[in-house]
Amino acid sequence: MIFTVAVDGPAAAGKGTISKALADRFGLAHLDTGLLYRAVGAKGGDPVAAAQGLTPADLARDDLRSLAAGEAASKVAAIPAVRAALTQFQRDFARREGGAVLDGRDIGTVICPEAAVKLFVTASAEVRAHRRWLEVGGDAAQVLAEVVARDE
Ligand code: DC
Repeated sequence: MIFTVAVDGPAAAGKGTISKALADRFGLAHLDTGLLYRAVGAKGGDPVAAAQGLTPADLARDDLRSLAAGEAASKVAAIPAVRAALTQFQRDFARREGGAVLDGRDIGTVICPEAAVKLFVTASAEVRAHRRWLEVGGDAAQVLAEVVARDE
């Protein structure tokens, strides 16, 4: 069975929490697509080559949730060739046998426009920044400024 659930929305809106719950409840595979961009940013070097050669080990790094990895991800995510290199991986994942949930800001529009189910999850920048701050700590005002900058 091929059955894709696309969960879109801005940073720290709750996409991951909802996606994991859906995947657990319905026995679907789950891909947090932000992790792909974080892994490309964290790898360093040429981002296009990093995206083309992404390995499971790159996705298993334990520093991908850090603020630094988020900032690096935001920069590489703006490069069209990086997005193109990650598109096929995401589409293959979406079409895997048994069904899949993918979350990220372009899943329902660009990656899986044909998804059987599309959800758009959002919250105010202040609420999202507070959640992100609970995860990463640091200066709350700076976390809010980064959420707003990334939205733009
Ligand atoms: O959701 P996140 O914080 O893990 O995302 C990391 C970065 O990657 C963020 O700048 C948004 C970007 N991203 C993207 O451009 N497209 C996606 N499908 C997922 C994430």
